[in-house]
Amino acid sequence: MNRILTKRQLTPETALFEVEAPRIARRWKPGNFIIIRPTPDSERIPLTIVGGNAERGTITMVVQAIGKTTRITVALNEGDSLADLVGPLGEAASIENVGRVLCIAGGVGVAELLPVARAFGEAGNFVTAMCGARSTAQMILDEELRQAASEVVWATDDGSHGFHGNVVQCMRDWITRNPKPDLCHVIGPIPMMRFSAELTREWGVRTYASLNPIMIDGTGMCGGCRVTVGGKVRFACVEGPEFDAHQVDFDELARRNRAYLAEERQVLESHTCRIGLGA
Ligand code: NAD
Ligand code: FES
Repeated sequence: MNRILTKRQLTPETALFEVEAPRIARRWKPGNFIIIRPTPDSERIPLTIVGGNAERGTITMVVQAIGKTTRITVALNEGDSLADLVGPLGEAASIENVGRVLCIAGGVGVAELLPVARAFGEAGNFVTAMCGARSTAQMILDEELRQAASEVVWATDDGSHGFHGNVVQCMRDWITRNPKPDLCHVIGPIPMMRFSAELTREWGVRTYASLNPIMIDGTGMCGGCRVTVGGKVRFACVEGPEFDAHQVDFDELARRNRAYLAEERQVLESHTCRIGLGA
């Protein structure tokens, strides 16, 4: 159950896994996510489904080693099994044929953007995938994106590839040479989603953001993933993770995601310390 068939290291911190999950592989849609526990005593973490192959009975997920659980996951290898895996969860991304779609991603969000960009392309749109990475070494899945989107634009913070600057500065530059898109989809770090949404509001372009609040059960019961959208409380795990970016309270999302920072740091430090001791 949930065996890892292939593992591909995308960057030193980020790995792509193809995992056995035949029922999810038959049913998933772009925008859906899974909740996994890498080991029986791990906490649960949500991960976007990046791809699926119904014939092989597998799904693909990309994990960036940030905290304790993501580090444990990235350390798994081919032949290992995840302790558990639940999905597909959440609502599928809103895909429609509108003409020109700008798909914007930052960091590991590039992996999560891939199935959405592909779906917009298959629906008949001209899709621009605009991706931000800190440096060339953090650029991921460029070849796959080029197959999925009509064009791919990269921005790197250090200018080592493509546009020199962050992806929001890249949007400001890009719009001077391109027609306004009909729709935008954004996924990435919270400040990046917030500034992208502010810009597309100025452009007057409808925009969806795929949010990443803390999740616990993923079934709408615990309230952990509560977000405010248009002044109303919404639960990202069952009503999202995608919402109207112009209505999202990003301040609250950032505040809630920082709520357990001290505990997360402590757990990570103790984990790193144990690894050092060979435990
Ligand atoms: P990162 O810090 O490497 O940033 C990636 C890119 O996002 C940057 O290169 C830049 O182009 C852009 N960016 C970042 N901060 C910005 C800002 N203040 N203004 C404008 N653009 C900015 O990203 P990472 O290390 O992949 O992720 C950082 C955090 O974001 C992690 O905690 C991760 O879990 C979270 N994240 C959430 C989602 C999501 O589901 N919405 C997707 C990806 C990452
Ligand atoms: Fe518990 Fe969404 S994760 S309600």
